Amino acid sequence: MKVLVCGGAGYIGSHMVRRLLGYGHDVVVFDNLSTGHKKAVSNVPLVVGDLLDAEALRRLFAGRRFDAVMHFCALSLVGESVRDPYQYYVNNVAGTLNLLRSMFTAEVSRLVFSSTAAVFGNPRARFIDELHPTCPINPYGASKLMVERVLADAARAYGLRTVALRYFNAAGADPAGDIGESHEPETHLIPNVLRSALGLGKGLKVFGNDYATADGTCVRDYVHVNDLADAHLAALDFMEGREGAHAFNLGNGQGFTVLQVIEAARRVTGKPIEFEYATRREGDPAVLVASGQKARDQLAWTPKYDSIESIIDTAWRWHRAVRY
Ligand code: UFG
Repeated sequence: MKVLVCGGAGYIGSHMVRRLLGYGHDVVVFDNLSTGHKKAVSNVPLVVGDLLDAEALRRLFAGRRFDAVMHFCALSLVGESVRDPYQYYVNNVAGTLNLLRSMFTAEVSRLVFSSTAAVFGNPRARFIDELHPTCPINPYGASKLMVERVLADAARAYGLRTVALRYFNAAGADPAGDIGESHEPETHLIPNVLRSALGLGKGLKVFGNDYATADGTCVRDYVHVNDLADAHLAALDFMEGREGAHAFNLGNGQGFTVLQVIEAARRVTGKPIEFEYATRREGDPAVLVASGQKARDQLAWTPKYDSIESIIDTAWRWHRAVRY
C-alpha cells in the first residue's frame, strides 16, 4: 500500500514508518517538524508542511495516490492544553478537518487516527473498555474526542473508513536504539526517569503520593511504541472488510505506579535513580488502565512487550545514545 503518514517524524509516527517499510509499504511523511525530527525519517520522502496550510495540503495530494492515511499530528500536552485551549482546538481539530477534506477531494477513503485515553476523563471502572463513557477533563482529550465525532459523521456521510486508536501511555523505543522519544520540554515519566539515571535533567519529581493507590502514586498502563505500530497495521487490514468509524483502546491491561516504574528502571539500568515528591500535577487521574480486549478480539492484536522491564530496556538503549 501507499501510505501517507502525517506526523511521521514524531515519536510514535517514526516507529510507524519503520514498521510500514518493514512490511513493504510505500511511505510518504508529512510533518511540520514542530516536535518531530528529520533524522527520525531520513530514509523516506519527507514533505515539510502544516495541516493548517491548505496550499501545502493541496500540493501534498496533487499527483500522488494514497491508499490510506495515518494521522499522528497533534499537540498532546494536557497541562498546555488547559492553559492555551485555542491552540489545541485549532491544531488538533481544524488541522484534522483540513486533512479530511483533502482526503475527500483526493478520494482517499481510509484513515487510522491517533486518539488517546484522555477522551475518557476520570475512569469509572478498573479497566477502561470502549463502552466506558467518554468525558474528557481537559482540552487535549476534548479535541481528540471531537475528531472521533467528526469521523463518525464522515463515515455516514461520505463512506470514509476510520479506526481511532486510543493510546494509553506510549513508551519504549525501537530495540535498534536509533529512534526514540525526544521532546523538549520532556514531560513523560519514563524519559524523565531515564534522564535522571543518566544524571541529566533537573532532578526527578514524583507528582503526588496521596492518591488512593497501592503506594499513593498514579497508576498507568504503559504500552510499547512498536506494539502501537503493530495495531495500526492491523487497523489497515480491519478496514479492508469493514465500513464505518471504529475505536479501540490500546494498552497492556496492566497498571504500574510511578514508584514501580522507578523501581523497574533501577533494575534495568543498575543506577540508583533519586527523586523527590512534589505536589499533584493538574489534570492527572489516579488510575488509567485499558481493557484492551476489543483490540485483541477484533484486531488480533497482542502486545509483544508485556513487561514493564522490557519496555524500559528499549527506552534505555535509546536514551543512552540519543541521536536527536
Ligand atoms: N510523572 C511524574 N514525574 C514526571 C512525569 C510524570 O511523577 O516527571 C507522573 C505523572 O504525574 C503521571 C505518570 O507519571 O502520574 C505518567 O505521566 P506521563 O506524563 O508519562 O503520562 P500521562 O499519563 O500524563 O499521559 C498520558 C498520555 C497523554 C494522555 C494522558 C491522559 O501521554 O497523551 O495520558 O491522562 F493525555
